[in-house]
Amino acid sequence: MKILVLGSAAGGGLPQWNCRGANSASARTAPASVIPRTQSSLAVSADGRSWALLNASPDLGLQIRSNPQLQPDAGGPLRNSPIGAVVLTNADVDHIAGLLNLREGHAFDVHASPRVLSVLAANPIFNVLNPALVRRCPLPAGEPVTVLPGLAVTAFNVPGKIALYLENEAAGAELGTQDGDTIGLEVSDGHSRFHYIPGCARIDDGLKARLRGSPLLFLDGTLFTDDEMIAQGLSQKTGQRMGHISMSGPDGSLAALADSRMARRVYIHMNNSNPVLREGSPERAEVIRQGWDVAYDGMELSL
Ligand code: MLT
Ligand code: MN
Repeated sequence: MKILVLGSAAGGGLPQWNCRGANSASARTAPASVIPRTQSSLAVSADGRSWALLNASPDLGLQIRSNPQLQPDAGGPLRNSPIGAVVLTNADVDHIAGLLNLREGHAFDVHASPRVLSVLAANPIFNVLNPALVRRCPLPAGEPVTVLPGLAVTAFNVPGKIALYLENEAAGAELGTQDGDTIGLEVSDGHSRFHYIPGCARIDDGLKARLRGSPLLFLDGTLFTDDEMIAQGLSQKTGQRMGHISMSGPDGSLAALADSRMARRVYIHMNNSNPVLREGSPERAEVIRQGWDVAYDGMELSL
């Protein structure tokens, strides 16, 4: 199985268009110190020819231009694409807006929780995906679904929240969150498997047990510290309010998964405030010391 990191940043990307915070500024002026990153997405292939996208980012056009594996086969018909499926883990803009890039009459399947499919159905702009060509397939939690020949995904619910633009403050602390708003995926080609969880608010006991011994995990690395956006003057929101676990701290993912015996652990979906994005930072050194990698665009892994 081949895995390609198309985009390793959280919503907004790095640099973020309207931000001159330290990381965004360095990504513009000193890109060797803070390497630019596009928004959150993986591509996976069991055969090296047909690819499934795990989330479809607003940067998908650039991501396809940057990754020849995702471009039309030069020997194929005038219009062709190796992208045969898209699997969504939530309905946030950074994970669904790229569907609009895939609208030029190409047949593929969209797999998502019934909840996320209902969000797509309620947004008529996605009707540009011709229903005669683009099937919308419910991805029930706990059942392996074959998304391409030889490639199966199993969804599982993870702690998280409703998409930002659907938040309902009047609905209480959960903001109107429903089952299926945030899922993780186990992806398998029948020989090997990995877990992909780009959004997650908490590592509870069930999730910890599920991940124990995983050959490879891509995990929500949005923030290093829960209040870093507030401390940097970028936003008033904590990571917890955004539905994202932090790396550090007693409730952080470094502590929660310290004894999880995974062969490989990779942080993905880093927000532009996260100090691990700075090459050589103490925070980068700390996550590496604890056995984690920090994903970058173009990172390739084989299982
Ligand atoms: C998030 O991960 O919190 C969202 O991508 C936020 C957003 O949609 O901008
Ligand atoms: Mn996001």
